[in-house]
Amino acid sequence: MKPILFTLFNGETSLNNKLVSSGQFESGEADTRRFPDGESYVRTITPCQGRNIVILANLHHPDNKLLPLLFLCQSLRDRQAKHITLIAPYLPYMRQDKRFRDGECITSTVFASIVSTAIDELITIDPHLHRYQSLSEIYNINTQALKADNTIANWIKQNISNPLIIGPDSESEQWAAATAEMIGCPHLVLLKERFGDRDVKVSTPNAEDLTDHTPVLVDDIISTGRTMIETADKLKAEGFKAPVCIGVHAVFSEQDYQALANSGVEKVVTCNTIQHQSNGIDLSKLIINALKPQLT
Ligand code: R5P
Repeated sequence: MKPILFTLFNGETSLNNKLVSSGQFESGEADTRRFPDGESYVRTITPCQGRNIVILANLHHPDNKLLPLLFLCQSLRDRQAKHITLIAPYLPYMRQDKRFRDGECITSTVFASIVSTAIDELITIDPHLHRYQSLSEIYNINTQALKADNTIANWIKQNISNPLIIGPDSESEQWAAATAEMIGCPHLVLLKERFGDRDVKVSTPNAEDLTDHTPVLVDDIISTGRTMIETADKLKAEGFKAPVCIGVHAVFSEQDYQALANSGVEKVVTCNTIQHQSNGIDLSKLIINALKPQLT
């Protein structure tokens, strides 16, 4: 029997449409809304007894979404669903993975432990694994951290000639190196220091012999866009062309996106983990492949 797909906060997004039109899922119906006082109402309508459930949830801006998600999962449990898989293409709260100052809450662990109580399995794409090696350090359920690098590498091969892949900081080495290897082109990893949310300094290594390439910045998250803007400025000052900026997750606010798009970069392209006007790389096949064991 096909799994039942419920969608939360994803509406008419390309990812949801692609999953629905794949024909691999039965559509689940739920009524979710807010009472006038702001509290959430959740009712699952589709019977789910003994069925595998897949919830596609856009958890970008998670604070208002966590409770409805938990309520939906509990309602599915009450209906005796067999197994609940959450697909959170963008997994929030992964960047606060350390106490940087006394008294700070390590929100990644709290978020993970709450979500782990509600579901059986989590599938996500390129979660921000920096000080954590794996999601299993904080999620005590089955997890799959899918990688967008292969799909991004194919997009670059088809759209950019003579690329040079650039990771703006040491954390992005994992994406930059793998992507460059798949394409068969060179890569560079830069050094970034962050002094505040919008205060970033990037140093570039001496790479004058590579200035004939098209620089392609690859990062997991673009949020304020400052990392990309600062890197692009540095590269241009060193004689490189305007770079193409690729991010897996288009976290940015409208204003931050416009600032990056108008900063003189060649193009900004993101994957469709978060619906955004910059989306140009579709990851629906990656997700459907990860669900294969449940689709047979
Ligand atoms: C940082 O650790 C991430 O990998 C990204 O480099 C970062 O989130 C980008 O943030 P922003 O766009 O605000 O510079």
